[in-house]
Formats: sequence, C-alpha cells, structure tokens
Amino acid sequence: MGTFIFFILFLVITFQSSIIKVNCANFQATEFCGTGPDIHYPFQIKGQQTQYEALPGFELLCKDNITTIHFPSYGDLVVKSISYDTKKIDLLDPRNCSQGVFMNLDLSHTPFKFYYFLKNFSYLNCSTNLSPRFIEVPCLSGSTYHVYTVDPALYVPSSCEIVKTVAIPFEYSPYVSDNSLGLRLTWDLPESEDNKTLAQTRDSHKARYIENC
Ligand SMILES: *[C@@H]1O[C@H](CO)[C@@H](O)[C@H](O)[C@H]1NC(C)=O
Ligand SMILES: *[C@@H]1O[C@H](CO)[C@@H](O)[C@H](O)[C@H]1NC(C)=O
Ligand SMILES: *[C@@H]1O[C@H](CO)[C@@H](O)[C@H](O)[C@H]1NC(C)=O
Ligand SMILES: *[C@@H]1O[C@H](CO)[C@@H](O)[C@H](O)[C@H]1NC(C)=O
Ligand SMILES: *[C@@H]1O[C@H](CO)[C@@H](O)[C@H](O)[C@H]1NC(C)=O
Repeated sequence: MGTFIFFILFLVITFQSSIIKVNCANFQATEFCGTGPDIHYPFQIKGQQTQYEALPGFELLCKDNITTIHFPSYGDLVVKSISYDTKKIDLLDPRNCSQGVFMNLDLSHTPFKFYYFLKNFSYLNCSTNLSPRFIEVPCLSGSTYHVYTVDPALYVPSSCEIVKTVAIPFEYSPYVSDNSLGLRLTWDLPESEDNKTLAQTRDSHKARYIENC
C-alpha cells in the first residue's frame, strides 16, 4: 500500500514538472540575436522553432547578428529594444531617415501603431527652395527638388506639389534628427491571444509556475 501511494505521488510530481516545462517553453523561451534585445512571446525570430505558433506581424529577422523587423510598406527597420510589460518596441532606420519612414510606413494590417500622439502633416515636393522659415528634409531632398513637412492648412506654393498628407509623430527638425526619433511603436495582441494570456494569468496555479521559470 505504502509503495502504491509513493508511486502515485511520484507520478503526480513528474506530471507537474512536465507542466512547468511546457508553460516555460510557451511563455518564457527567450531567443537572442547578437547583442540585441531578448526575444520572446509574442515575438519570435523567423525560422527558429518555438513552442507557440508565429503570430502574424510579430516575426523578427536575425541577419548578421542584427535584429530587424520587416514592413512591406517600408522595408527593414532595426529593433533597438523591446519592453514587454509596457508593449513598446523601439526601432531605428538603417537609412537614417525617420521622415521617410513616417511618409511610407503603413501600419494598418499590422498589430502596431505609433506610441506617440499623431498629427497630420503634408509632405511637399518643391522645385525651388521655400522661405528660410521652412527647413527641407535632407534625406528626402535632392539637388533639384526640396521636400518639406508642413501643416496641411498651409497655402501650397505653385512650385510645390503635395506628395501626401499623413498623420506622423514629428515634423522635421534639424535639431532633433536622429535615426530613431519617433520610431517607437506599441502593439495589440489579437483578441484570441489576449484571452489566452488572460486565462493563463487567471489560473494562479499556472501563473506561479510561469513566474518561477
Ligand atoms: C554573431 O555573434 C556571434 C557571437 O557574438 C559570433 O560568433 C558570430 O560570428 C557573429 N555572426 C556574424 C554573422 O556576425
Ligand atoms: C546613419 O548614421 C550613422 C551615424 O549617425 C552612420 O554611422 C551611418 O553610416 C549612417 N547610415 C546611412 C545609411 O547613411
Ligand atoms: C488626418 O486627416 C484625415 C483626413 O482629413 C483625418 O481623417 C484624420 O483623422 C486626421 N488625423 C489626425 C491624427 O489628425
Ligand atoms: C520629388 O520630385 C522629384 C522630381 O520630380 C522626384 O524625383 C522625387 O522622387 C520626388 N520626391 C518625393 C519624396 O516625392
Ligand atoms: C475573448 O474574451 C471576450 C470576453 O472575455 C469574449 O467576448 C470574446 O469572444 C473572446 N474572444 C475569443 C476569440 O475567444
């Protein structure tokens, strides 16, 4: 009888520890790419095996030890850091042109949106220089044309055409131009995933194991 109870206990303990492993694998398995940020749920590195299914939009690429995320509307952006608790991802543009990112990046059909408050600006493409009050965006301008971001309510000079009007976090300023300015996004999980995480947290028994991973 004693042996039998011991055997049952043994089974229970073994079974529980296998649950722990599964939970840890699901939610804590961390991947790295070079010295980049920790990568775990909901993100994953494309092509690497994880226990959970890849969520659309959350796949990252690891090329030459650099973590990047691909947006079809713009191309690759480098992932500087990810904050999982506040759902923030900081990116930088390898082409050093945040204003070009703002102009082209289309975040609809992605889980992301800009972290910052957005305001509409018009991108003007002008054949002559505007008054010195306006400062051209160097990375979008060429020797024969000058690109500006202006308030859409402004009168458009005849030497300019409106490329597009789009809601962006910052207009161009030469004083605060760097390759990551404004490139902070936040994300929403698909509803079904939110429920999954909620269910996991609600189950205090399991949640404790997750904390212990
Ligand atoms: C990536 O980093 C690892 C370790 O830091 C190094 O061994 C490897 O050569 C690097 N790979 C590339 C493509 O730079
Ligand atoms: C972007 O800027 C960094 C430093 O400011 C520089 O090292 C790098 O070469 C620039 N990249 C491009 C594509 O201009
Ligand atoms: C930008 O303009 C569009 C079209 O006029 C409008 O629908 C949108 O709400 C505006 N966005 C912001 C952030 O003001
Ligand atoms: C601005 O106009 C020039 C010449 O017409 C063109 O080559 C360039 O691509 C345009 N730039 C943008 C951002 O529309
Ligand atoms: C998620 O949970 C909410 C309320 O808790 C429910 O209304 C919704 O149908 C659930 N969605 C899915 C996909 O399970």
